[in-house]
Amino acid sequence: MDLPQLAGSSADVRLLPPSTSARRTDVAVVGGGVIGLSTALELATRDQRVTVIDPHPAGGASWVAGGMLGATLETGFAEVDDVELHLAARQAWEPFLELLNAGRAAPVSMSQGGTFLLGADASDARELDRLTGFMASVGLEVARCDPSELDEQVPGLSPGIRAGFHVPGDPSVDNRQVMVALLERCQEASVQFIAATATSMRRSGDWLEGIELDDGTTLRTGAAVLATGAVDTAGLGPHDAPAIRPVKGTIVRLGPRRGPILDVVLRGLVRGRMCYLVPRPDGCLAIGATTEERGYDTSVDALSVFSLLEDARALLPGIDDLEFLEASSGLRPATTDHRPVVCASTVRGLVFNLGHYRNGFLMAPLAAQSVAELLEGRRAHPGFEGKER
Ligand code: GLY
Repeated sequence: MDLPQLAGSSADVRLLPPSTSARRTDVAVVGGGVIGLSTALELATRDQRVTVIDPHPAGGASWVAGGMLGATLETGFAEVDDVELHLAARQAWEPFLELLNAGRAAPVSMSQGGTFLLGADASDARELDRLTGFMASVGLEVARCDPSELDEQVPGLSPGIRAGFHVPGDPSVDNRQVMVALLERCQEASVQFIAATATSMRRSGDWLEGIELDDGTTLRTGAAVLATGAVDTAGLGPHDAPAIRPVKGTIVRLGPRRGPILDVVLRGLVRGRMCYLVPRPDGCLAIGATTEERGYDTSVDALSVFSLLEDARALLPGIDDLEFLEASSGLRPATTDHRPVVCASTVRGLVFNLGHYRNGFLMAPLAAQSVAELLEGRRAHPGFEGKER
């Protein structure tokens, strides 16, 4: 069989071929993005024999993502019920990084310095006053910066910026470093990979018996986790997974010419459009992201790239000197209310880890722990409960 290579990556990571015994497993994880691989690793550390099913593990939206751990700034007015969940998810990252980095020569790091939230014009500044007022009222840490403080903390900002806030609790990780590390740790933990697509579930009454694959084989298992991101799994049923719709995001990557130009995350409201700039440890800059309802289309259009660059240079004019490296699009998996679904299904043995929308990286470690708890007969983190399905 051909060995799958890391999708879209120049990283020299090859996946182990599944052995014949991989056709039976303790737990099948359907989907090899950040949610699926974090789940697989968590289960493997709990001595489960785990098999990940994905034609292109570590690809898709996880390879495109901004990698912000936006516990604060992804908690807007509509997410008021998720404050505790987001903070717990952020806290789960320290032990997760320890797990990911054990024995690694080049550890995955989390950025220091938090995020600066910027308002480009007077109307943006008013909107951010309203938003940060709400955040402070629900206990999230956001501090207004005066202009001199802002200049000192973020050299190179546009002099016209009308408002700035420091959000110390929202760091970032390099999404691609995380994905490579996850693949490696999963392989070290003997997780098996099958480069195929799951096509249907085999059941006996209410109980799961196996997952049928498009290579004509069946993976026999009494337990499975659906971590399929924005992929439509209706055909994989019968099951009671929630409807998930894809919400496209385009992101631009720029490379340094004379060293890094930014060392903290920026989020800016620019004439009413939100944009973010996320520095990578190698000096590259990820600029994101659009939010578009275009079904499963992942093409990159010129207007998205133009808008992102226009907004980013309104905040940090020095981006003009950077090298254009890449523009790519990914699909965020969204439920109808944009809340995640981490719970047991009505099919015995089947657990959902779905719908993380804008927060796949933030939620991955906590959601993985909750899935493992559910499969062991315990409860998920309380923040995942109570969602109406
Ligand atoms: N979490 C950032 C985004 O979804 O664009």
